[in-house]
Amino acid sequence: MTGRFCDLIQKKKNGKILTKEEIETMISDYCADKIPDYQMSAMLMAICFQGMNEEELSVMTSAMANSGERVDLSGIDGVKVDKHSTGGVGDKTTLIIAPIVAAAGIPVAKMSGRGLGFTGGTIDKLESIPGFCTEMNIDEFTSRVNQIGVCVAGQSGDLAPADKRLYALRDVTATVESIPLIAASVMSKKIAAGSDKILLDVTCGSGAFIKDIEGARELAKRMVAIGTSNGRETIALITDMDEPLGFAIGNNLEVKEAVEALHGNGPGDLMEVCYALAGNMIFLAGNGDVSYEEAVRLAKEKVDDGTAWKKFCELVESQGGELSYIENPGNFPKASKSREVKALQSGYLVSMNTAEIGVAAGMLGAGRETKDSEIDYSAGIVLKKKPGDAVKEGEIIATLYAADDRRLDMAEKHFLSNTRFGKERPEKRLMIIDRICK
Ligand code: URA
Repeated sequence: MTGRFCDLIQKKKNGKILTKEEIETMISDYCADKIPDYQMSAMLMAICFQGMNEEELSVMTSAMANSGERVDLSGIDGVKVDKHSTGGVGDKTTLIIAPIVAAAGIPVAKMSGRGLGFTGGTIDKLESIPGFCTEMNIDEFTSRVNQIGVCVAGQSGDLAPADKRLYALRDVTATVESIPLIAASVMSKKIAAGSDKILLDVTCGSGAFIKDIEGARELAKRMVAIGTSNGRETIALITDMDEPLGFAIGNNLEVKEAVEALHGNGPGDLMEVCYALAGNMIFLAGNGDVSYEEAVRLAKEKVDDGTAWKKFCELVESQGGELSYIENPGNFPKASKSREVKALQSGYLVSMNTAEIGVAAGMLGAGRETKDSEIDYSAGIVLKKKPGDAVKEGEIIATLYAADDRRLDMAEKHFLSNTRFGKERPEKRLMIIDRICK
């Protein structure tokens, strides 16, 4: 950096446009520890308030994608379609759609993340299956995809390391909820991960980072534009995350729900989102030869005929997971304590502050309190009632699972203070709110 970084913070704070050189130097200097976290935090906050134009966002995304290795997936035959969700509560869609899409004959080379903030992470969920391994080098990754058509691995440490560092900083400086910062974070990883096409699940509502539809639409459009300008056909679905997806929140609880879903017994909201996501991945891989309707039909067929379930078993076995747990989900370790949460009044369960329900799951032990803390895979929440359901005072609305009463006390209080009851049934919400293509 030729000038002082402080002057660049001032420039963004005043709403000016940063140049290509300034952004590229900022990212490389930050990765080289030449910019301290306190200055980068101030810059991130300035971006939160002032935003970034198309050119700035495109340069920032490329600089972050180029901060580490770019994965070469050319050793895998076929069109590789990646999928990324902007995060949610109870979002176990990858566990269900990866085997569905692979069962439809499309290679799924998926790199996923761990839980962050109030959101859960696919890698933590999969690692709750005893033995399941998500760490591997790129050769092992591609060879698993070539052998069985699917592999779900943790992000290699060198995949967009700038995002890894920036995200950790954003998480503790209240700078996650920024459209350009989310767009650069997601798209830098997806571009570095090397797939041919990208499907984005832009979640929207109280359990998502972006709460309103206008914001979600803008985020979706900006990410689709970045994918397209990088030569990757990209589709974004805007999906509802105003309530937890499905009934289970917490790692092995969500794996059990995914197993049920792959046997054809998944909850309606979860399956609607899964079929839309899997359908869009199959559609993208079809290069125009498969209509969207046909792709969705195929996705459903793969669940109905049992091939998606078989593919999930192959996936678990190939990554070292013990099959006996998914074959008999009752074998999963259970939390030593549980508590039934009861409705405070009769009427309807009107709404939940879903991010805070995610926080309650974290209090139970389902998430990390600090970067290095251990997860309790059996902790979490199983909902019995969802917004829109009629309830009677004292009726069970959820069961909480944890290792001790202190966690149950804390989480029960938090759960109830973020759940609203009323006399009027709330309107049913659309699960698939919009689909944004180029
Ligand atoms: N998911 C990401 O990968 N990055 C963000 O900034 C938000 C959600």
